[in-house]
Amino acid sequence: MSFEKEIAKRRTFAIISHPDAGKTTLTEKLLLFGGAIQVAGAVKSNKIKKHATSDFMEIERQRGISVATSVMSFEYNDTLINLLDTPGHKDFAEDTYRTLTAVDSVILVIDSVNGVEDQTRKLVEVCRMRDTPVIVFVNKLDRDGKYPFDLVDEIEKELKLSLHPMSWPINMGKEFKGVYNLHNSSLNLFTASQKATEENTVPIADLNDKLLDEKVGERNATQLREDVELLQGVYGELDTEEYLKGKVCPVFFGSAVNNFGVKELLDTFIQVAPRPQGRNTDTRFVAPTEAKFTGFIFKIHANLDPRHRDRVAFLRVCSGRFARNTYYKHCRLNKDVRFSNPYSFMAREKDIIEEAYPGDVVGLFDTGNFKIGDTLTEGEVMQFTGIPVFSPEIFKELVNKDPMKTKQLEKGIRQLTDEGVAQLFTQHGGQRKIIGCVGELQFEVIQYRLLQEYGSSCSFTPLSFYKACWITGDKKAIDDFVRFKQANIMEDKDGNLVYLAQSEWFLNTERQNNPGIEFHTTSEFK
Ligand code: G4P
Repeated sequence: MSFEKEIAKRRTFAIISHPDAGKTTLTEKLLLFGGAIQVAGAVKSNKIKKHATSDFMEIERQRGISVATSVMSFEYNDTLINLLDTPGHKDFAEDTYRTLTAVDSVILVIDSVNGVEDQTRKLVEVCRMRDTPVIVFVNKLDRDGKYPFDLVDEIEKELKLSLHPMSWPINMGKEFKGVYNLHNSSLNLFTASQKATEENTVPIADLNDKLLDEKVGERNATQLREDVELLQGVYGELDTEEYLKGKVCPVFFGSAVNNFGVKELLDTFIQVAPRPQGRNTDTRFVAPTEAKFTGFIFKIHANLDPRHRDRVAFLRVCSGRFARNTYYKHCRLNKDVRFSNPYSFMAREKDIIEEAYPGDVVGLFDTGNFKIGDTLTEGEVMQFTGIPVFSPEIFKELVNKDPMKTKQLEKGIRQLTDEGVAQLFTQHGGQRKIIGCVGELQFEVIQYRLLQEYGSSCSFTPLSFYKACWITGDKKAIDDFVRFKQANIMEDKDGNLVYLAQSEWFLNTERQNNPGIEFHTTSEFK
């Protein structure tokens, strides 16, 4: 197959949702359609149990298992689908944000009963930063949820998305009859089923057809006619270009657990979802069709099992052809590296691969050479951008409990933060070290790993900071600010200046008092 065709056949995406909306269930149904798994429950068993929050070792153990399902590749109707898993647990939200830098589009699952939830808001914000195309799947129509018009309204308002319904539900809960496909004027009748079978579809070109009343009942048919008239007046045909620009989101309704509406979603997805897209670097834009290989590391997974302490770095191929046993330039370290056992993620098995194409994700065994965002090329020096770090939510000071092991502690903390477990801030002009995380769990992970892997012991003193803000602006204004606010000024791992604000009030006050300074809550700003 030609290089162009290899690229054209790929779709790389992630499913995102607030926990419990049905991400795992939908993932599993998609895999069933792709023939990647035969039995329902295969993905589910890898899911981090929501009740395991107090036991991070258990979570890590399950995360270990889930490396195999971090990327799920399968073929469906001549399309090669790379589905990147995102951890549902909120303490691993940073992992999810980074994974979103490696996909070309997302499917957002919304629970029809709960509507828009906390995590959804954050995830959509990250998508918006990159104009990632979004398809919405409204799930759990078999339950008594919110009215579809109210839901659409809520999603549009709360998430600031423009929606475009592709299908429309007929009643819900016990009375759920199915969905009307607005795109190809057909009726999908609801039958509860766990298996991947063909859906029960009836073409109904003219909504006045009496067949509709026969199939869904008179009252439901009348309601549908009214709804569709309204919808057609407002929405018309989907503008695919607008979707690809991230401006309009097609919406489907269904019930993942009943495998309803999933095939329809998948069929439309492979038709409209973007092919592997190009990406920006610090020097230029890289198109996927360029002959020379480039790629970047978006995730590093460490194995906590002392018998297999290997790390896996996840590489997204951006352009050209990646090949096994070939030397590539590790741009940050300015050295050549090659990989004898790169692997792909076909159907839950780790297969050694010979080559990979743009849009693919390759697992690379790593002994500590990589950090998040590292770029590999065939020689050109560049760095992929667009992998921002977000302000942590919890801050604690790192206390060294064993001064004899200071070196080990420093090395350990550097490596763990390279992996993206947490963020390290060092006092500007001083020695204090502050660790910032999204969730409490990471502090436990750090403490455990520093002891197990580096033999150093530490404790944490909680600090009551609200946000870390990267500061830029006029040199004099920055110098003055740094002098006045000494106790709150830190440096991130790359030496950028960061202001730690005690509260929202403090941050707003500083913003007002310092018009010459910009306060950014992510590390990448243009
Ligand atoms: P997540 O990955 O987004 O966290 O959600 P997950 O798929 O695990 O689904 C959360 C719960 O919602 C599960 O129930 C799942 O069975 C259920 N669910 C998913 N899709 C539907 C649907 O279309 N209709 C209904 N009624 N429920 C749905 P659970 O009780 O937490 O787990 P389980 O014991 O059923 O496995």
